[in-house]
Formats: sequence, structure tokens, C-alpha cells
Amino acid sequence: MGLSVVILAAGKGTRMRSSLPKVLHVVADKPMVSHVIDSARHLGATNIYVVYGFGGEVLKATLTGGSLGEDLTFVEQTEQLGTGHAVDQASPFLKDDENVLVLYGDVPLTKVSTLENLLQVKPEKGMALLTVNLANPAGYGRIVRTDGKVVGIVEQKDANPEQLTINEANTGILLANGGDLKRWLSGLSNENAQGEYYLTDIIAAAHNEGKLIATAHPETEIEVEGANNRVQLASLERAYQARLAEDLMIAGASLRDPNRIDIRGDLIVGSEVSIDINCLFEGTVELANGVKIGANCILKNCSISENAEIKPNSIIEDALIGENCSVGPFARIRPGTVMNKDSHVGNFVEMKKSTLGEGSKAGHLTYLGDTLVGQNVNIGAGTITCNYDGVNKSQTIIDDNAFIGSNSSLVAPIFIGSTATVGAGSVIAKDVENGELAVARGKQRNIKNWPRPSKK
Ligand code: UD1
Ligand code: MG
Repeated sequence: MGLSVVILAAGKGTRMRSSLPKVLHVVADKPMVSHVIDSARHLGATNIYVVYGFGGEVLKATLTGGSLGEDLTFVEQTEQLGTGHAVDQASPFLKDDENVLVLYGDVPLTKVSTLENLLQVKPEKGMALLTVNLANPAGYGRIVRTDGKVVGIVEQKDANPEQLTINEANTGILLANGGDLKRWLSGLSNENAQGEYYLTDIIAAAHNEGKLIATAHPETEIEVEGANNRVQLASLERAYQARLAEDLMIAGASLRDPNRIDIRGDLIVGSEVSIDINCLFEGTVELANGVKIGANCILKNCSISENAEIKPNSIIEDALIGENCSVGPFARIRPGTVMNKDSHVGNFVEMKKSTLGEGSKAGHLTYLGDTLVGQNVNIGAGTITCNYDGVNKSQTIIDDNAFIGSNSSLVAPIFIGSTATVGAGSVIAKDVENGELAVARGKQRNIKNWPRPSKK
């Protein structure tokens, strides 16, 4: 049987105190609803219906970058008349002979394995509910059972004192056949304490038709928690980060402190990877076998090859770092940088759109922009490539085995030949051919017995 997913996302989210629709608030830099959409896709859903109420345009505009797709349909619920009414907005699209799973745009951390469980336990002709036993189920709908069998759900506000003692709570997540669901939804009434069309009333309808209602449970409560305010959002963020940190450690990475790492994207690790405290990973980052990341590094969309070491306080974005390279401490590697193997960049070195050849070094206080550096080149402390004349960017090429003396300015476009040497403190504006020494600086004069000025 095929699978469609209906995601409820019509709540205004007043308690967020934000102009952004609630489901667009992010966990790990990704809107909550995108986490839910991704889970639906992992389950193999052919159609995903997002029921929205506010900010439809913002919602559609924000869900770019993979979230939008042909499988996604936005369905408007103009008035929030209850969860049953919300799901019913998708009814015209649902097929009779498919499974329909109801998820919530503000409940981002449900594991795919938990939802797979739910699909597994559902009887072919019955339905399945995700429920959770809570020490304090206040506010939740309670699962009513007779002789162990689920017969209905009663909302907190409609429950009698005996029902209020039930600890099994409704997570809201459920699975039913499309045909059944549409029939049950069309029969809902809003004669209850809240005057709403309750989705939960379909359970009694299913029972009355003699349908079997199976239940499955999440591994942990956080999987079914939503965020109504920024405090709850922050707690989802922490729980999610803890989960990612655990996955990394299970994959073989050593984390100095799993409570002090943030991953906002995909971090792919090899074996024997170690990560010190307070590192932030964004986008897609790959760390190959034996990579070491020092404290306080920020890595975004980059790939670090085997046994490379990124020392503390370094920032790397859109770059490739080769085998055995070392970077930092305090290095800034900007987009378009390639460091070939065994190359080294030290403290206060910035690279942008530049390539450092195998075995080359820029140890201290250097800017390399739009620069191609060959192999085994030594770039002295304080070397600056002057790549910008105020209007255009130009390239610097430094060939193999060249030696650039400290505090040199290389005015691009410029070429420094192989095994050429640049004297310290030079401003180089003309090409230097292979093997040449270029010195371009004011001549030193030494004045004997020069009297220092005295205080007047
Ligand atoms: C609902 C369940 C309750 C369950 C609880 C779990 C019902 C009647 N009750 O209660 O049994 O324990 O969730 O959290 O279903 N929404 C819409 N349109 C609407 C109404 C709601 O899109 O017209 C969305 C909300 O934005 C929210 C979700 O549905 O994301 C749940 O609605 P909410 O009113 O928070 O449900 P509860 O009253 O908490
Ligand atoms: Mg409600």
C-alpha cells in the first residue's frame, strides 16, 4: 500500500512571539517542518500534504533547498477549527487504498524508526496510534482501553476524574487507511468542551466499526514533544544535538565533551576522528580517518582529508584540506581554498580562492587571495597578496620551491618563478623569473654616533 503524510502546521504559534509561522522556527538551522518533511520522505511517502493556516507565502518561500518538491502540496486551513478539521482539509487528495500518516509540523524529532514501527504494527484493515506513557500526562488526550484494547481517546478537558488518572497519552501521531479516515472525518462533530473537531474522535469511530487499533511507542519522550515557545524550542535543539553527538560517537568519533558540539547539517566522519570542545559544523562537512579538530573551530561545507589537523579557533568554509595538512590555530580558510597534502597554514593566515601546493607553508600573519602556490613554497610571515586594486581582482602565481621573505607585498597580477626568492620587506610589482632574487625595498643607511633627540 502507498503512503501519504498529512502534516498539521496551521497553528499560529502565538507563544513564539514572532512574525514567523511557528513551524518555520529552526532546530539545527532547519525549520521544524522541514525535519518532519524529511522524515516523511525517508519513510517513502509518495505525497506530503502540509496543512497551513498563516504565512502560507513565507512558508512556501522558505521551504526551498530540497524541502520543496513535486511530492509536496500545501493545503490551506482558513479557520483553525480543530485537528480533525485540519486533517480533513487534505481529504480531497487522499486515496482510499493508501496509508495516511498524520504528523505535526512542530514536532520535529520523531525518529523514522519509530514511524516505521507504527507502519509495521498497523493491522491491514485497522489503524495505529503512537502513544506514550507519561508520569505527568496533564494536557494530553488519554488513551482509553477496555480489556487492554484501545476503544477511544478522551481529551484532558473532556475527561472524567477516572480517565484523568490514565497515564497513556496520545502523541497525536496516527496512521489509518485513506478511505476509513475520510469517512470518519466526515462524521466528526464539535460538541465537546473546546467546540473543536477533534481528530482523536476517529478512534471511537474506528472501534465502533469493529476495527482493530494497534499502538506503538517512541523510544524517548522527546520524539513526540513539540515546541510552543522558544524555551521548548531550545530544549528540542539540545536534545537533537545530544542525539547527533551520540550518533557520532557510535560511528567511532571521540568527542571531548558531547555537550559542547553543534551540528547544523551533515557531519560525516571516518575512524579515529577526534573533536575538541565548542566546535560548530554547518552544511556538509566530511572528516576523514584520523582527523583532529581543535577547540572552538567552525567548519562549513568542507572536506578534511586523512590525518589532517585543524588547530583551535580556526574557521574553514567551502574548502578542501588535504592529507596531513595542518591549519591554525587562528586560521581563516575562506571559500575556494584548496590545500594539497602536507601543506601548512599557521596563525592569523587568511586564504581565499587560493591553492597551496603539496608541502607548502604559510606559517604566520599572511593573506593569500586569488593565489596559486606550487609545491614546497615557503611564504614568510606577514606576506600579503595585493589581489584588489579597488576595482578588479587579480591573480598571483608562485611556482614550486619559491621562497617569499617576510613582510612582502605581492602586487597582482604577478608571477614568482620556481626557486625564485623574494627579499624580506619587498613590494613586488614586476614578475620574478625562475631562480632570481628580487629585492624591492628602501636602502638602509646607518648613521654613526647619531644623537637621540632630548626632552625639551
Ligand atoms: C492534541 C490532541 C491530544 C494530544 C496532543 C498531543 C486532539 C483533539 N488532541 O491536543 O489528544 O495529546 O495533541 O500534543 O487532536 N492544528 C491545526 N489546525 C487546527 C488545530 C490544530 O493545524 O485547527 C495543529 C496545531 O498547529 C498543532 C497540532 O495541530 O501543531 C495540535 O493541535 P493542538 O491544539 O496543539 O492540540 P492539543 O490540544 O494539544
Ligand atoms: Mg488545542
